[in-house]
Amino acid sequence: MAYSREDIDEVRDKTDLVELAGEITKVKRSGRSTMAVCPFHSEKTPSLSIDGARGLYHCFGCGKSGDVYSWVRETQGLDFTEAVEFLARRAGVTLKVDPLAAKRRGERESLVEATEVAVGFYTARLKTAADAGPARSYLRGRGYDADVVETFSLGYSPDAWDELVKHMRGKGIADKAMLRSGLASRSRKGGLIDRFRGRVMFPIFDVRGDAVGFGARVLDGEGPKYLNSAESPIYHKSRLLYGLNWAKSEIVRKDTAVVVEGYTDVIAMHQAGMPVAVATCGTALGEEHLDLLRRFSERVVFAFDADEAGVGAALRGFDRSVPGDLDLRVAALPDGKDPADVVADGEIERLRLAVEESQPLLKVRIESEVSKFNLDEPEGRGKAVRAAVGVIALHPDPVVRNEYAGLVSRLTGVDAAVVRDSMRPARRSEQGRPADVAPSEATTATYRTESELLRVVLANDERLANVTITPDLFSNESTASAYAVASSIVQGLTPGSAPNLGKAIGAEDSPEGRLLRKLALDTAPIPDPQDLVTILERAKVDRRIEDVRRDLQKVDQSTDEQGYSELLQQLIALEQEKRHLRSDA
Ligand code: UTP
Ligand code: MN
Repeated sequence: MAYSREDIDEVRDKTDLVELAGEITKVKRSGRSTMAVCPFHSEKTPSLSIDGARGLYHCFGCGKSGDVYSWVRETQGLDFTEAVEFLARRAGVTLKVDPLAAKRRGERESLVEATEVAVGFYTARLKTAADAGPARSYLRGRGYDADVVETFSLGYSPDAWDELVKHMRGKGIADKAMLRSGLASRSRKGGLIDRFRGRVMFPIFDVRGDAVGFGARVLDGEGPKYLNSAESPIYHKSRLLYGLNWAKSEIVRKDTAVVVEGYTDVIAMHQAGMPVAVATCGTALGEEHLDLLRRFSERVVFAFDADEAGVGAALRGFDRSVPGDLDLRVAALPDGKDPADVVADGEIERLRLAVEESQPLLKVRIESEVSKFNLDEPEGRGKAVRAAVGVIALHPDPVVRNEYAGLVSRLTGVDAAVVRDSMRPARRSEQGRPADVAPSEATTATYRTESELLRVVLANDERLANVTITPDLFSNESTASAYAVASSIVQGLTPGSAPNLGKAIGAEDSPEGRLLRKLALDTAPIPDPQDLVTILERAKVDRRIEDVRRDLQKVDQSTDEQGYSELLQQLIALEQEKRHLRSDA
């Protein structure tokens, strides 16, 4: 699009990448170098290196790298133009925009703008409008003072057909934006009508604080108790946590996030002096919510209603496994009460203690499973152990599983060795996903691929005509020297014609000879060399990346800024190359 290079450069220069990163993730400065918890993959110790002076980043964990623009594109789902506009606004740079470009402003921006106008409208109505009297008394009744109303931008949607629509038109919001953001819908007659009517409005902001939707509580009208925004280009309930925009910095400071059930509980935690609470917006807690949380803290405490349903809800997202990198815990609340109820009862201290004395999620789950059975009888103990072992199996760490086997033994009186024995099949059947490939396995896999390629060469397969094989594709000594031998055998032959292997390697009494013989005797179908070369090209880039990384780790950024920066650039180029290799395949 139409922004000039000067504009783009100016915005880049005026953007502090370290500060930008700090808005969504944990950033640690040490001297001149800055490390951050990478928002592009799951991790607890920071491995994202940020070169603030040059506006570059690279993650040593997942390999993501880029500049301020790619950062904004990837973390906020913007395209390049939107990223420029976003950062320009932030940096106070006025872009020289042609009228055509202005029309094509990012959709995201226009939807957020529409939602923000709606927030303004609803909050104003709550404060002053005559028809908002019942909403005001409802909030007062909940113990929300002006401070709370202000902080959470609470509002009221009038019980009328199109007051918001009219207001937004007056502010120049296009009908399309009203529809796309889910603030309005089309009536049967074809006009636009408000989605939310006669409700207390809880605006929902994304992690950066952009308004993206609403939770709306009924007062005395009809319909569901809470009505949420529909999915839209800016509102994805599987990736939103209500309250995170207010809580994120305190979550980092306390290294604790508290997950509660809903809007009112988030606000109650805030009132109780624990502004670390977040809630899903009308959906169960899922993988992507955890991804969001682990950027800010390792410890996640569930503070739900203490009944069975509460603990169940906490685990619903963990049917197959629990993440081993997070410290998932449960706060024991008084029976049948959620945090909002506890605060309403004036029992802030009790709530604080519940969070402080939270127990590991698996421990709570195991205790709850075991308590369902009659432990006086062998059959009951058997069932209790099986149920508990099913819970233990969710944890990826064998050490942790072993520890919990001890707990089950103590709770049930069943011998610990017996509990451990019964664990083996359970774990296996629970394993849904393959474990991460360990380095040694990766090496083995590469060795196998290299051997396969040797087989193709030995067969002088006709498809060799379409690929280029270079010696540096072979990463280990034995395959590399075997390739030297194999390529000399087929040299000069037209691909497709059979070499006389018997003569060439039949009697070679060397490691290469032995390997080649073994491969030549393998009767499996000859694979496509193109596929193998692609895999090995990637592995080659990976090896170079490893090398540069090792070098980078040796360089002290504070003393050798030049060297550090050069290596970082190299790394970024290599990562790019790798991405190309991937997308070509
Ligand atoms: P509650 O049912 O306790 O809501 O749900 P409440 O507004 O506090 O109602 P009362 O006064 O106790 O009867 C607690 C949270 O669960 C979410 C909301 O975020 C609410 O804050 N919730 C509840 C929904 O999202 N949808 C629902 O239908 C109900
Ligand atoms: Mn409630």
